[in-house]
Amino acid sequence: MREFSYRDGSLWAEQVSLQHIAERFGTPTYVYSRAHFERQYLNYAEALGDHPGLICYAVKANSNLGILSLLAQLGAGFDIVSGGELERVLLAGGDPSRVVFSGVGKTANEMRRALEVGVHCFNIESEAEVNRLEQVAADGETVAPISIRVNPDVDAQTHPYISTGLKENKFGIAIDQAVEVYQRAATSKHLNIIGVDCHIGSQLTEVAPFLDALDRLLVLVDQLAELGIQLEHLDLGGGLGVRYRGEEPPPVKDYLAEVHKRIGERKLSLILEPGRSIAANGGALLTQVEYLKRTDEHNFAIVDAAMNDNLRPALYQAWQDIVPVTPNESESTLWDIVGPVCETGDFLGKNRSQSLKEGQLLAMLSTGAYGFTMSSNYNSRCRAAEVLVDGDKTYLVRARETFADLVRGERTVPEKT
Ligand code: LLP
Repeated sequence: MREFSYRDGSLWAEQVSLQHIAERFGTPTYVYSRAHFERQYLNYAEALGDHPGLICYAVKANSNLGILSLLAQLGAGFDIVSGGELERVLLAGGDPSRVVFSGVGKTANEMRRALEVGVHCFNIESEAEVNRLEQVAADGETVAPISIRVNPDVDAQTHPYISTGLKENKFGIAIDQAVEVYQRAATSKHLNIIGVDCHIGSQLTEVAPFLDALDRLLVLVDQLAELGIQLEHLDLGGGLGVRYRGEEPPPVKDYLAEVHKRIGERKLSLILEPGRSIAANGGALLTQVEYLKRTDEHNFAIVDAAMNDNLRPALYQAWQDIVPVTPNESESTLWDIVGPVCETGDFLGKNRSQSLKEGQLLAMLSTGAYGFTMSSNYNSRCRAAEVLVDGDKTYLVRARETFADLVRGERTVPEKT
C-alpha cells in the first residue's frame, strides 16, 4: 500500500490527506489511488514483455468507471462476466476487441450484444453454452470467437469460497471432457475456436497451482493440435494474491517467467485476467467511529461503514488492516470494529488493538478489490461515495447514494379493494 502512507502524523493517499477527503466528501467513502492501479497494471504489461497477449483486468474486482477509464487509457483489456460489465467497459472507453467474456450463465441477449460490439473471445463454460452461442451467432449471421474454460482439477489452496478449479466446482468443463466439446464446437460454422482458458481461484500466494494447471492445459493444447484444432491463445485467468496480512505473493514477473518457459516454442499468445492484484491495495475505506460501547465480554467500536459496504470480513472472515487516519499516543485496547447493520456477522475487524475515540476517522486498507463492487443496500443504507486520488487532485468518481436513488423504480400499492 505504497500510495497510502503517513505524513505529518496523518494518513494520506498520494498527495491528499484522508482527513481532507472525509471533510469534503463525508464517510463512509472508498478512496482509490490512480498511481497504484497504473503501476500494478503496467507491472503485468511489462512482465508479458514481447510475448503477444492481453492483460484483461477482471472488472468484477472494481468496476467504477473512473478505474476502468484509467486502465482503458493504458490500453488494458478487460475480463467481463455480464452485460452490465460490458456496458461499463464501453462507457469507460475500453476497446471491445480486447474484452474476454467469462461467466457460467451468459444470456442470449448478453451474447448478442457482445457479438455486436465485437468482443475478442467468449470463454465457454458448458456444452449447453456452446449450443446457445452457436444459435445466437447463426441468428445474427456471424461467427463467435470462442475458448473453452477447462476445469483442470487442481487445488488452489485458498479459501473454499474463492477456489474454482476443483472438479466439485460449478466452473468450466472437466479437462477429460474438453476434447469432445472442442470437437463438437469445431463442427460449427458459426463458432471459431481460438483458445483455451482456466481460472483456478483467487488470492493464490504460490505459483505452483498455476503451473500445475498450465501443465494440464498444455497437454490438452498439444492433443488438440494433433486432432487438427490449432489454438491461438492460452488464458490463465486471474488469481494472483496480494498482501493483506503478511502474505508474500510471488512477483508477477517470476510467475510469467515460468509460464513463458513452459509455453516454449508453441505459437500461443497469452491472456491473463488479474483483478485483485491490480486493485486491492489501491483502495481504502474511510469510516468514522460513531460510538464506543464496552460490555463485560468485548469492547465494540461502532463505525459508520458496515457489511453492506465491505462484505469480505463477514463472508470470508477476511482480514483487512484497519488503521487510524490520525494516530494518537494513548494506550491501545482490543476492539471489535462493527457496523450499524442488524446482523451479528456485521463486523469489519475483530480484536483489533487500537486507541479509539468517538468521532475519529479510521481507514480500512486493501479494500480496492471486491469492496464497493460487493456492496449492497441492506438495511436501506445508501452506498458509499468513491473518490479517486491522482497526485494532488481528487475526483468524485461516484457520488454517495441518496434516498431517492434507493427507492428509484419502487412503487407503493393502492389500498386493498
Ligand atoms: N477471471 C475469472 C474467470 C474469475 O472468476 C475471477 C474472479 C478473476 C478472473 C479475477 O480473479 P482475481 O485476480 O481477482 O483473483 N469476492 C472474492 C473474490 C472472488 C473472485 C471471483 N473470480 C473476494 O472478495 O475475495
